[in-house]
Amino acid sequence: MPFNPELCRNESEVESKLIVQYLLPQLGYTPDTWHQEVALGSIRLDFLAFAAQVIPLVLDANSPLSVVMEAKHPKQNLNNHVSRLRHYLTKLNVRYGLLTNGKEIRIYENLEYDVKLVFQCLGKDIETKIEYITDLIGRDSLQNRHIGNLKEKVSEANFKFETKVQDLMKTIAIYHNKGGVGKTTVAVNLAAALSKKGKKVLLIDIDSQANTTFATGLIKFQFDEEDDLRDSNVYHLLESGDFYLIPDVIRKSHYFNNPELDVIPAHINLIEGQYKLNQIDASKTRLVTKLKKVEEKYDVVIIDTPPSRDLYAKVALVAADYLIIPSDLKPFANQGLLSVKNFIIEVNEFREMIGKPHIVLMGILASKISTNSKFLQYTFPKQRSVISERYKLPLMKAVIYDRTVLSECMNQTITVGDLEYPDPKSVVKYAEEVKSDAQKSAMEFDILADEVLLEMGLKK
Ligand SMILES: Nc1ncnc2c1ncn2[C@@H]1O[C@H](COP(=O)(O)OP(=O)(O)O)[C@@H](O)[C@H]1O
Ligand SMILES: [Mg+2]
Repeated sequence: MPFNPELCRNESEVESKLIVQYLLPQLGYTPDTWHQEVALGSIRLDFLAFAAQVIPLVLDANSPLSVVMEAKHPKQNLNNHVSRLRHYLTKLNVRYGLLTNGKEIRIYENLEYDVKLVFQCLGKDIETKIEYITDLIGRDSLQNRHIGNLKEKVSEANFKFETKVQDLMKTIAIYHNKGGVGKTTVAVNLAAALSKKGKKVLLIDIDSQANTTFATGLIKFQFDEEDDLRDSNVYHLLESGDFYLIPDVIRKSHYFNNPELDVIPAHINLIEGQYKLNQIDASKTRLVTKLKKVEEKYDVVIIDTPPSRDLYAKVALVAADYLIIPSDLKPFANQGLLSVKNFIIEVNEFREMIGKPHIVLMGILASKISTNSKFLQYTFPKQRSVISERYKLPLMKAVIYDRTVLSECMNQTITVGDLEYPDPKSVVKYAEEVKSDAQKSAMEFDILADEVLLEMGLKK
């Protein structure tokens, strides 16, 4: 029979059955690496577990390795115990705190400015979640991260003259409030180019038009009733705090690119869903919270956005570290930039509220640019200077030219029986099979990928 901590009847059973007999051994903590009833000054902890053997027991800025576990009576509401846990974690410099009454299990992470809920499940579901919990606060996992941090510190100290290597997951939003400027084309092919360079990439579609979802080959159905995206897509991720975590909603892009990518699909139902999400304050930060949980799994996250200033665009810009604004540099797109600038200010205000640094604008990315030589010689340089001089915005060095092959590879199909199914390819993959402009275009995305990696301080 599966272990069910909901059957714990009192606080001491939560301590003995759930924590001592189940959780600590599952998470790899041997009896010599955890302590019960630890008194530190005025603080009394139920449990304190260490990833590394620390003798004597020191809790300073250099040992953020331990996990505090607090057990409560099954009748206690955990909400009433969060502020105390916050006090313990911040005061003692402990990275993670687990809080449970047997019915519910929560894990909080100590960020410099606050503690944040990073995991939550029902007691009865613990066995299905234990692998995830182990990744988060298991002894091996914390130890490896510690070793990783130390290596980083050592290499930083030794090689100060080299570009700083920071292999933390980075998130980029591809946004402009004007449609048709190439956002989706840039999002999917940049993702493909990064993935070809060996980066682990997650691509998120948060536009109800679902063009990225289509372009990565996830719309394999011809009829409504075969729609397998309706019940699990980015909307569900935003709608639920506890469920529809990223691993639950990702799809593999299969034939779209080699190697394949993880994609979170969108759906036309996002339009309907926006009203409900607008009523839920937390929906704006759920993507942030859920991305945090997979930061060990991906190097780069790319978010394709809708051409509007709605909730979905805001969610994307709140979650992203960086922003790329594709633009064909034509008057309509330029006029939209004033509104984009105001939107960035509004998003940054919100980010301050939740303790996140401002979004970094990588720049305007010239896209769908004509390859006509006269145009490139006379008009294009003028268009570029308008962006820096009139709009006072940075421009990226890379340029994505107007190449019909980009829509061609996105509109490939295969025929099965009487039916034709979409079989889109990234231009990066297409270039391996088809000569023509595909190779030039793939090269342009390769250059863009290098610029992006350099900007984010990631290794090429
Ligand atoms: N660089 C390009 N060269 C040629 N066609 C392009 C290019 N970028 C986009 N397109 C085409 O323009 C249309 C709109 O592009 P899309 O990427 O969907 O823009 P957005 O996401 O900004 O609405 C699509 O038909 C796409 O195939
Ligand atoms: Mg689009």
